Amino acid sequence: MGALEPQATAQHSYPPTFLWGTALSAHQVEGKTGGGENADWYPFEHTPGKIYNNDTADLATDHWNRYPGDLQLAAAIGVNTIRTSVAWEKIEPAAGEFSGDVIEHYRAEFTYLKQLGLRPMITLLHGTVPLWFQNRGGWLAADSPQQFAAYVRFVVSNLGDLCDLWVTVNEPMVLVGLGYLEGSIPPQIASPESAILAAWNLVRAHRLATATIHELQPVPQPNSSGNPLRGVGLVNSLDLYQPYNKLNPLDDLVTAIYVELSNWAFPKAAVYGNFEMHDILGQLLGKKLSLPTGSLDIPAAHGSPVLDWIGVNYYTLWLVQYNLGSLPVLKVPPSLAAQTTDIGRAIYPAGTEQILRDTAAQFPKIPLVMTENGVSDRADKFRPQFIRDSLHYLDLAKFGHNGLPGVDIRGYYHWTLTDDFEWQYGYFSQYGLIQILRDQNLERVPRTSAAVYCQEISARLPQGATPVNCSAIQQLKSAP
Ligand code: BGC
Repeated sequence: MGALEPQATAQHSYPPTFLWGTALSAHQVEGKTGGGENADWYPFEHTPGKIYNNDTADLATDHWNRYPGDLQLAAAIGVNTIRTSVAWEKIEPAAGEFSGDVIEHYRAEFTYLKQLGLRPMITLLHGTVPLWFQNRGGWLAADSPQQFAAYVRFVVSNLGDLCDLWVTVNEPMVLVGLGYLEGSIPPQIASPESAILAAWNLVRAHRLATATIHELQPVPQPNSSGNPLRGVGLVNSLDLYQPYNKLNPLDDLVTAIYVELSNWAFPKAAVYGNFEMHDILGQLLGKKLSLPTGSLDIPAAHGSPVLDWIGVNYYTLWLVQYNLGSLPVLKVPPSLAAQTTDIGRAIYPAGTEQILRDTAAQFPKIPLVMTENGVSDRADKFRPQFIRDSLHYLDLAKFGHNGLPGVDIRGYYHWTLTDDFEWQYGYFSQYGLIQILRDQNLERVPRTSAAVYCQEISARLPQGATPVNCSAIQQLKSAP
């Protein structure tokens, strides 16, 4: 651990209802106890060559057993909320069969979380689906929205007294892009037609799940900014994209199309009902793709607002280069290439303000939450400054400056609480405010960044709020 960094000097006081949090996800931390072998990622991870170093999530951080210590560490950082997920494959290990034991486990975890004064935000689908769902066609199956909604109904009926902030799907376009278009993650399908159909069914699934949650847990409208944010969000991967060569009209054009595909096509279809992804992807690939048949609207979803807020996962800035007849090539901007994250991503905290403004422009009047933001940095070399800078740009977006208006932002979640299983990067890629010593019985050791995040939050609390002792974090370690 380095020395504690100087105190933050934020100028802005955020409302007491602002969500200050860290984000994590079930498959990335829990380990397979409880039924992880029922996930579509389980056979994938056990196929040699798929994951860096052939790591698997079988143990992950053993959060399933160690959640009390992890949540205590989170509380010590001064956050007031945790964004986490529940594992569909553990809750519904076979179609229509729900596990009472697993729900009891989550009830105990979320009850404890609330006892610590933290508010849960629960993602219903983050990365993995049950193998039985995959074997029935996954998101290509016409009734996949109904299958998902049945699981959502079970979860919200059983956990609804503990949670009123839900995310339907995390980063649907990452799932569509990598799982159905590129084929590099489960279900490993590489077909533009399948990608379009999967996106179509995911939009329908989001809408039906949202209606199901609203039926069980009505949300007062409008979700005005004085009250704590409630209800259902859709969380999108929203990175920034600029043309590789601004003087090349092809780079310029392809960037505009690519940003539409990656960032906006899905949430626009979910919110406004205009599905255009087949046209957009068709333009990039130079081929005609058809609109799936049927309707985006599911009668059961009629009358329910399609969401209550939008989640923004922002990580980096890419330059986009035209690539004839194929998806464009993404490059790290040369001006940022000298200092990249451990997985070679550009570090660009100024993008926090820009992506929030861009999202607000696409979805005026809908509250925003930054649901993920972080850096892969095992040495914690860049993260402390990244946190300070990112929150500075969050201030600029939220409160406005130089004639730019403030944006309706309700929360910021840093990815992630502890190091975790980072999908194809295994345990190599480390995003944690808290380090996990994998060769020392998964001991938890707070990084300097944990104290810095604590200070930055404290500096933004309203006057009169109970101060947090941020220097105490560095002394904390989990019991081995
Ligand atoms: C995902 C996380 C992931 C993180 C860092 C996001 O795309 O939601 O599951 O670990 O980025 O790569």
